[in-house]
Amino acid sequence: MNPNLHGSAWSGFYKKTLKERQNQLKITFPDLFDQPSPATSIAPSVSPVSSVYSTPLTSICSSPISRKYSEENKSNDTLNGINNEQFNYLIKKLESLNIDQDPFPIKGLDEHIADKMIENCVGTIGLPVGLALNFIINEKPRIIPMAVEEPSVIAAVSGAAKTISSYKGFTAVAPERNSIIAQVVLLDIPQNSLNLAVNKLLHQKPNIIKFANQFCANMVKRGGGVFDMSVRRISRTNNRNKKHHPISSENFREWLVVHLHIDVCDAMGANCASTVAEGVAPHLSELTGGRIGLRILSNLNVERMTKASFRIPLSLLSYKSYTGKEVAALIIEAYEWAEIDHYRAITHNKGMMNGIDSVALAAGQDWRAIEASAHAWACDGVRGDYSQSNNYRPLTTYWIEKDDQLADCRKEGDDCLMFCGELELPITVGTAGGVINTNPVYLYNMGIMGNPNAKELSMIMVCIGLAQNFAALRALATEGIQRGHMKLHATNIAFAALRCYEDETNSSRPSHDIMSVARRMIEKGSITLTTAKELIEESLPKSQISQCTHM
Ligand code: MEV
Repeated sequence: MNPNLHGSAWSGFYKKTLKERQNQLKITFPDLFDQPSPATSIAPSVSPVSSVYSTPLTSICSSPISRKYSEENKSNDTLNGINNEQFNYLIKKLESLNIDQDPFPIKGLDEHIADKMIENCVGTIGLPVGLALNFIINEKPRIIPMAVEEPSVIAAVSGAAKTISSYKGFTAVAPERNSIIAQVVLLDIPQNSLNLAVNKLLHQKPNIIKFANQFCANMVKRGGGVFDMSVRRISRTNNRNKKHHPISSENFREWLVVHLHIDVCDAMGANCASTVAEGVAPHLSELTGGRIGLRILSNLNVERMTKASFRIPLSLLSYKSYTGKEVAALIIEAYEWAEIDHYRAITHNKGMMNGIDSVALAAGQDWRAIEASAHAWACDGVRGDYSQSNNYRPLTTYWIEKDDQLADCRKEGDDCLMFCGELELPITVGTAGGVINTNPVYLYNMGIMGNPNAKELSMIMVCIGLAQNFAALRALATEGIQRGHMKLHATNIAFAALRCYEDETNSSRPSHDIMSVARRMIEKGSITLTTAKELIEESLPKSQISQCTHM
């Protein structure tokens, strides 16, 4: 596949209006957007979208507009690989034909569905959904929806992906098996009986696995289920909170923690793991004589390590007024700072999570679980790296290496150097079950991504994390991020300020006012609601200047 071809159809996407972008999606994904909402009720058992759709360049575009384009241009080509100009033609045509006036279906959650999802529901909250572009992952183009309120995140990640995909794109790997760990803790086993208890459990392993599998029969039917069990002895330590007043005289020094390893197919697996843990616990207690403690999944899932990486010649890294070599050196420096300073490492990882969380939100994933395990993995102790003091580290790594092939082609010096980036972390995601079928927006977003399975989704998300971090380091280490960020921030502030006046006067203001207020705030170097209000009031007749107090 030709990455440039992929890019050309989407270049300038950011300059289009919201409506034009939506129409471009309808044209690009006819199988997805030409049919009724993929989910209209709570948790239907099968998603109507299924996996009909594949990525844009390989999809058969059968929409009327696409066929019309082919006829008019006497071309047998469908939309596969069309360029931006052709896209614009189709978008205009779609608008002029007035084919589809339905509201675009990527929109907030119906409150009646929301009411069934959580307790004490009083409404819903919306987040913008945008598309990360230019991603080539394992040689396949991917368009990646992101739900995020922070300006610049999507522009930054798409810019980084453009650089990386201008060479060979991202390589990603994830384990074949999508598994999760269910934990059961067994307490109050006397110290001199612990060895015996562990041996009993290990001896009974096949029977325990068989017993446990009755609590995830559906998973077993799908080819998954409990496939292993391990036992850990955990030493107790004193309560860290000095105010603690012990109320139990028992003080067993060690606890047994049993791990049940479950293949959850394409599910995230949290419910399944907790059901198995609760179901199997009495049996484990009977075998060991231990008192049953907590029974729950672990959100640290080291069996789902997913790795994304890229390599790119230094020469392709040039950015703004910086040469590729300068950019490479500056990024390495920024990364090395995070390695030695956990104050910086946290921010470094936060930026990376901007990308991962946004995809998680857009795709209906448990982003709290993803966050928790990523930050745990950033700690040396959790990674099992005890050579260092217990430290918190950046999750990405960057380095420069010599490329043997380039060196063999008689390239010399910097010309045979490659800039490399890598991100590996445990990530628990699912594409079957959970809330994905509950909110139609998740299904559309999954469709735009090409309906990835759980393994593919984890790879997409880790690539996004790597690209997001690369983007942040590149911007921070060169021109800084505030210029680009401030433009969007100013637009948001101007919008908020203008809304205040709309509410008061009950009239809607043209959108170019927003841009002019934003531009003038930037010129003034003061991007605040107060400045925005002052600027708005400058152009308002006195009679319309009201006390805007509700901001
Ligand atoms: C802001 O949301 C993220 C950054 O702070 C990340 C970083 O500093 O690496 C820009």
